[in-house]
Formats: sequence, structure tokens, C-alpha cells
Amino acid sequence: MSDPQVDFAELQQAAEQAQKMAYAPYSKFAVGAALLAADGTIYAGCNVENASYGLTICAERNAIAHAVLCGAKQFIAVAVVTENGVTPCGACRQVLAEFGPRMTVIVADTRGNRRIYALAELLPDAFGPANLAEK
Ligand code: THU
Repeated sequence: MSDPQVDFAELQQAAEQAQKMAYAPYSKFAVGAALLAADGTIYAGCNVENASYGLTICAERNAIAHAVLCGAKQFIAVAVVTENGVTPCGACRQVLAEFGPRMTVIVADTRGNRRIYALAELLPDAFGPANLAEK
């Protein structure tokens, strides 16, 4: 899939920079995420772990929190960089869908390999804001 609005390389670079800031002393699995907002602004996040393991926050959800704090709530794409190019976890897919069910997901590894998905294929038939609005 290719979206002419998205500069994949630029977004991937922002995610690579964020990955360098990851706080992952327990898993040693550094994750960087970068969101492209509808106005073209990029918001990054990294995973932040905790000695109480369950309190760890993923990079994608930290990027969403960063963006929302800055006033952005609509996203066109997200890039996620890890050493082995994994797709976002289920919790992050759900949180991403809240703010951009049609967003493009760019998954990259640290050797520069990249795969492109639609969030809707990673989280089909998603529950979302519209379901509550029906009530
Ligand atoms: N992690 C993310 O940041 N994003 C994901 O989508 C999957 C997992 C983090 C959480 C934890 O710090 C480490 O990766 C290992 O699970």
C-alpha cells in the first residue's frame, strides 16, 4: 500500500530516533514510534518500562499521549521501529484505532527493512467510538 501523503522514510527516521530514547532495562527490547498527524506534524514516543513490570507503557501509546497533549487527535500513519520489525501489540492497535482507524502502519527493523500495513488489517472489525455513539 502506498499513501502519497506519507513520507515513509521521514516517519521511519523519527521512530528510529525515538527508539534510541527507549527506557527498556528489563526486556532490553527498545521500541520507537512516530505518528504522522493530519496537519503533517510528527509526534514520537518510546517504550518506558518499570520495575513493576505491568506498568510498562509501549512506544505507540506514549506517542499517542505525546500527540494528544500537543492537541493532535487525527493521524494518517504510524511508524514503529524495533530490532526485528514486529507489528504493534493488541493494546496499541486498539489505542491507535481510536485516533485513526484508517491509518497506515509502517513497521521497520534496525537494518532498514520496512513493511506496510493498513491498521484495519491488523485490527479488523475494531470496536471504536462509533459503537458507543449508536447507544
Ligand atoms: N512494546 C512496545 O513498546 N510496543 C509494542 O507494540 C509491543 C511491546 C514494548 C513493551 C516492553 O517495553 C517491550 O516492548 C517488551 O514487551
